[in-house]
Amino acid sequence: MPRIALVTGGTGGIGTAICKKLSDMGIQVATNFRNHEKVGQWQAKMQADGYAIALVEGDVATPEGAEALVREVEARLGPVDILVNNAGITRDTTFHKMSPQQWHEVINTNLNSVFNVTRPVIEGMRQRKWGRIVQISSINGLKGQYGQANYAAAKAGMHGFTISLARENARLGITVNTVSPGYVATDMVMAVPEDVRAKIAAEIPTGRLGKPAEIAYAVGFLVADEAAWITGSNLDINGGHHMGW
Ligand code: CAA
Repeated sequence: MPRIALVTGGTGGIGTAICKKLSDMGIQVATNFRNHEKVGQWQAKMQADGYAIALVEGDVATPEGAEALVREVEARLGPVDILVNNAGITRDTTFHKMSPQQWHEVINTNLNSVFNVTRPVIEGMRQRKWGRIVQISSINGLKGQYGQANYAAAKAGMHGFTISLARENARLGITVNTVSPGYVATDMVMAVPEDVRAKIAAEIPTGRLGKPAEIAYAVGFLVADEAAWITGSNLDINGGHHMGW
């Protein structure tokens, strides 16, 4: 029986690459979407590339939306073995100008979504004694970023979640890890003003932005059967942009 994965925000730049990578590993993949217009094009492109990804409408920013999403995935594919909490947005602005809305939109979509989606998934994983949960965080959750107090707070929070959930579920065959991408060539990064982006790119030791597939590779590694003893870890993938240990 193939494993079943739910990748939140799978129609985005990094999300699409994760959907493809997991499919290539023989995993059955589902993702959520919110925008009907955009998703039609996405699905056509994926089908043309030979990928059959189950698409379920759902907003992970609310507990009700996330629970309905999980139940629909279970009804269509079966129980979720692998969860990749990837959905995320930016509302960049310096903190002294940040509105409550800009704060809450980012915290709800990037951090509260992790609670909302993992909560209805975890009980089944615990019963079946197997599971893989991966948070897609960010370099900016580790080092902070000018204009991203909301985003960095959410992304740092994701790893706090990882290391607690990893402890609680380690004896039940469930691993919980974080992947922290640096600046990857996606629409999200391309939305940063060009002059600002050029300065950031110049700071990256490899001399280029990352590719979505380079992040997806790490997710594939962490969800494999062989990765059973890797839990509570954070994997930085940023071209050397931020190094620590
Ligand atoms: N360090 C120091 N000063 C900085 C700075 C930095 N990194 N960035 C901007 N400034 C300065 C500017 O030079 C300018 O100074 P002067 O007024 O003296 O000329 C001032 O800050 C501008 O400040 P404002 O409050 O007017 O800011 P703004 O409204 O013009 O917008 C910003 C600022 C929206 C934060 C803009 O700089 C920006 O978009 N920065 C990029 C943020 C970023 O990296 N986002 C990542 C998005 S992708 C992503 O999030 C994926 C991922 O995980 C990596």
